[in-house]
Amino acid sequence: MNTLTFPILHQLADGQFHSGEALAKQFGVTRATIWNAIRHAESLGIEVFSVRGRGYKLPYAIALLDKEKVLQAIGIEREWFHLEVLDEVVSTNTYLMKAATNGAPHVSCAVAHIQTGGRGRRGRTWVSHLGASLTFSLLWRFDCGAAALSGLSLAVGIALIRALRELDIDTAQLKWPNDVLVDNQKLAGILIDLQGDMDGPSAAVIGVGINVDLPKQVLERIDQPAIDIKHVSLVNIDQSQLLGTVLKHLADVLRHFEQHGFIGLRDEWLSYHAYHNQSVRMLLPDGRDVEGKVIAVAEDGILLVETALGLQRFSAGEISLRGIK
Ligand code: ATP
Ligand code: BTN
Repeated sequence: MNTLTFPILHQLADGQFHSGEALAKQFGVTRATIWNAIRHAESLGIEVFSVRGRGYKLPYAIALLDKEKVLQAIGIEREWFHLEVLDEVVSTNTYLMKAATNGAPHVSCAVAHIQTGGRGRRGRTWVSHLGASLTFSLLWRFDCGAAALSGLSLAVGIALIRALRELDIDTAQLKWPNDVLVDNQKLAGILIDLQGDMDGPSAAVIGVGINVDLPKQVLERIDQPAIDIKHVSLVNIDQSQLLGTVLKHLADVLRHFEQHGFIGLRDEWLSYHAYHNQSVRMLLPDGRDVEGKVIAVAEDGILLVETALGLQRFSAGEISLRGIK
């Protein structure tokens, strides 16, 4: 961590050259200190051009998050949200889990410009990049226990699809239990960490990563087909607007979920499922796999698949779904 790196990156976000001398003067430090801060940015994978006589520059302009724009996009319910914009954090989920333990309020949201250790399910890595990814977590406190939250990640998927539709992205679908796909390529992922007792009260930290405009070299680091908002939207969508729109729909869906559970959302979820009535392979934690056809989803988010052995039920925790062409 270098406390000057992000203040400098905020200056460089315009994509223009800024001389080391001008930056040093602005921050009241030496040019060597500016150079060290730039080197820290590079260690985070951020490319910074350094040209003698002209200074430092990012390869292109980037739109950093603007808290007021996020709140505007949330609309009338903005007062509910305790929004924190972080420059650099290991993982917004880890950060908010710790904050939740320390008493962070209901509907706290942490969004990060950079995650240095973004997590997927089961210890997998979530790849993101400055100005190119939206990475945030939302803390939602429930009166009920964690046992009643089994359909939660599916409900969150609905909120993401509704938000994308509001932004005119109609091609997004869900893959059980927690991925958002466009043309079978992953656009977004959901990771839910829970704390509290099985019989209540409990707290969920809902982490969402959405690819916004990933550079080619970042896409190449992802070991499955991935896509970003830039390639699925006809218009430019600002990250702050995207975040505000998603948060608005999340609050809506979560309120419904806490009152009625997943059951009232089930038909909508099925209508978004990329593999409804399709042949799939279910990958089990012990390395075995089972083939079958997706029939339905139960009110607790369990997937029902017709297999050679009859109807089988799969719960999200340790199981992955793969389509069969
Ligand atoms: P499943 O959810 O079906 O178990 P998954 O392979 O999507 O399978 P997750 O844990 O949901 O696994 O997501 C983590 C995976 O997502 C990583 O292992 C990687 O393959 C992929 N991934 C990582 N970063 C990104 C990204 N920015 N965009 C798309 N996919 C990514
Ligand atoms: C997945 O597809 O497995 C879930 C990916 C979730 C990524 C988001 S990015 C914000 C939040 N912080 C994390 O470390 N992970 C989630």
